Parts: sequence; structure tokens; C-alpha cells
Amino acid sequence: MSSQASGRADWVEMEKQYYMFTVRRQPVVIVRGEGTLVWDVDGKEYLDFTSGWAVNNLGHCHPAITKAIVEQAATLLQTSNQFYTTPQLQLAQTLVENSCLDKVFLCNSGAEAVEGSVKLARKYGKKNRDGAYEVITAYNSFHGRTLGTLSATGQPHYQEPFQPLVPGFVHVDYDDVEAIMEATGDRTAAVMLEPVQGEGGVNIPADDYLPRVREWCDKQGLLLVLDEVQTGMGRLGTLFGYQQYDVEPDVMALAKGLGGGVPIGAFMSKDHCMALEPGDHGSTFGGNPLTCAASYASSKHIIENDVSSNALAMGERLMMALEGVKSRFGFVADVRGRGLLVAMAFDDDISGKVVSVCNEEGLLLNAVRPNAVRFMPPLTVSPEEVDGAATRLEAALKRL
Ligand SMILES: Cc1ncc(COP(=O)(O)O)c(C=O)c1O
Repeated sequence: MSSQASGRADWVEMEKQYYMFTVRRQPVVIVRGEGTLVWDVDGKEYLDFTSGWAVNNLGHCHPAITKAIVEQAATLLQTSNQFYTTPQLQLAQTLVENSCLDKVFLCNSGAEAVEGSVKLARKYGKKNRDGAYEVITAYNSFHGRTLGTLSATGQPHYQEPFQPLVPGFVHVDYDDVEAIMEATGDRTAAVMLEPVQGEGGVNIPADDYLPRVREWCDKQGLLLVLDEVQTGMGRLGTLFGYQQYDVEPDVMALAKGLGGGVPIGAFMSKDHCMALEPGDHGSTFGGNPLTCAASYASSKHIIENDVSSNALAMGERLMMALEGVKSRFGFVADVRGRGLLVAMAFDDDISGKVVSVCNEEGLLLNAVRPNAVRFMPPLTVSPEEVDGAATRLEAALKRL
């Protein structure tokens, strides 16, 4: 039976009837997007500063990505990985030639990219560290929702309903090198960190944190795995977050912005630690021609047009605008960010209310913490759109 729904209320009702209630959604039914803008089913326009959760790095429906998808859809959608396909290898070459890593495995999501990274680290530990398998991760980290990546995630409230979890993860405070040193033992194979914690509230470590962790890993023979699912592909103002801290990871997980809107993930490794062997890992859809063609087009565009620099410049502009807002509203406690991963924190748990009122004003944001909202617009956002977002935010805060 086809749907009779037409207006927002009808779709909201349909969701209640048919969809598993695992997410509290905003009452906005998005039907179209272009650049930084989206429109809802009733024709209302919004500035989208959520970008599909830091995914649409080139904005909605970028012509380069659309063209690649349309052409690939008419050419070849899926083969098994028993065969070579060209978009997969073009993307692999682009990622390797523009990063410090040597090899790539393509999968379908951030969780899968992290899961693959952890498997690689365990295999490395088995081969090179006398069976070591533990991975040290940080509190307030977010690594995904599969059982393995949930176990890696350092947020007990996500984990509690699903105990017992996968063993082999040790959690320590973020931005605390000594805690990593203390947690390191014979069983430790790797340390896995986000260069900036995204879902944890946009937590930015001290500049010397990652270099010191790198030094410790080198001394102990541990792998440094960076989860760049959110920070990668230009979000922080450089193609990869690690470039801002002058360190090189041994293993890196990517997803989100990698596909420019299509579901794709990747984990990458340096040759010296690429411990996986034939039969160790696989994926039916991972590296399929359609997502790879889109991702190749998106990645090439980001690199060739230095879109990361726009993220840096627009990030600075956004932070300045938000500092201005902060100076006019006493309940704004903090503005923090790197590139276009930015948060505004309040002195109370009002982020849900702020997001609702911003929606009404035509600005889409994310309540990343009960007391903080997150801004992650497309990396192609214009100065006018940044200023427009600040104006809409200010109008919203006045209404609280
Ligand atoms: C740093 C990080 N790692 C992993 C993930 C999981 O990615 P996905 O939702 O694509 O599985 C996320 C998602 O927000 C993330 O921010």
C-alpha cells in the first residue's frame, strides 16, 4: 500500500507507527538539500549546521558527487570483492597518496572502520606482542554502536543496557598521558583516540597530548590508532586531524565525510603493522563501485580545491561570531572548537530547548550534551551563511 502522507504531522505519525523508536527526532521532515541549505516537507528553508552528522562535507547534492553517483549507477553497482573494480582502487590510491598511511580497507560505516582497526590491532598484538589484545581508549569517546565499538566507547550510559560487553578495552581520562602510561601492561596492544572528541562534546586536548601519546606508544611498541571518523576529510581544517598535532598514527579509521553523503568507511594502516592476512577480514558491500565512485569524487574535490582551508577560515569566523553571542548572553558558558567542529556550552542543561528554538528560527543544530550544542556545517559553508547562522542563533537565544 502506498503512503497517503503529505504534511509534517502525517510523517511524524507514520514514524510512530512503523519505525523503531531508538532516536528522539526533531519535528522536521527534510525532503531536499542544496549546499548548506535544506527544505522541509512544508517548504521551510533551514541552514543545516548538522550536515548529516558531519557527513556532507561538500554540502548537500554537490554536483561532483551527484555526477559520479549517476554515472556509476548506470555502469556498475556491485560486484563481489573476489574481483577488482576501478573506483575502489582509485579511491584507495587517493587516500594513501594524501595521508601518512600505506594501505586501506573499505567498509560501510564508522563503526565498521573502528571494528576493523581493533581487529588489526589485536592481530598485531598476537603476532608482535606475545598475544597482547587490549586497547586503551578514553572516557567520553565515541567509537560506534556495534557490540565491539560500543565496548570501546568510553560512555557507560550507552553501554549499560547491553552488558556484558566485549572484553579487551581499558578506559582512561582523555587528555591525560600519565593515565595511559599507568594503564599500559603486558596485554596492551594499542591506544585508540579521537584527535578531538566529537560526540563527547567537542573536547579539544592540549597540543602536546597526541605527540606525547605517540612517544609513549613508540617506547612501548604499541600501535596508535586514531579514530578520525568525525575529524577526517577536512573537518578540523586540515585533511586529517593528526596533521594539526604533528603526529602520525599507525592505524586510522575514517567514515562520515569520506563519502560526501553515501555510506562508506575505511581503515588505513602503515605497512609496518598491517598484520591482517587473507581471510582475516571482509565485507560484502565494502568498497562497492557506487559508494567508491561517490567517495572518490568527493575526496578528489576536497583535496584539489583545498576545501580544508575554507573549513579553517570559516571555523575561525564561526568561533568569533559565537564569542560575540557569548558576550551578550550570560548563560553561554563556553565556545570551543577546531575548524568546523564547534560547540557552545551553557551554564544549564538547556541544549534541547536551544535546538528546538533554533529549528523554529531556521537553523539546524545538534544537542551534543545536555548543556552544549554542536555546529558542524558543510566545509563549503560561505561567510554569509556563517553570519546568518549566528543571527538565527541569537534570535533563538533571545526567545528562551
Ligand atoms: C569518532 C567516531 N567514531 C565512530 C563513529 C561511528 O560511526 P557510524 O555511526 O558511521 O557507525 C562515530 C559516529 O558518530 C564517531 O563520531
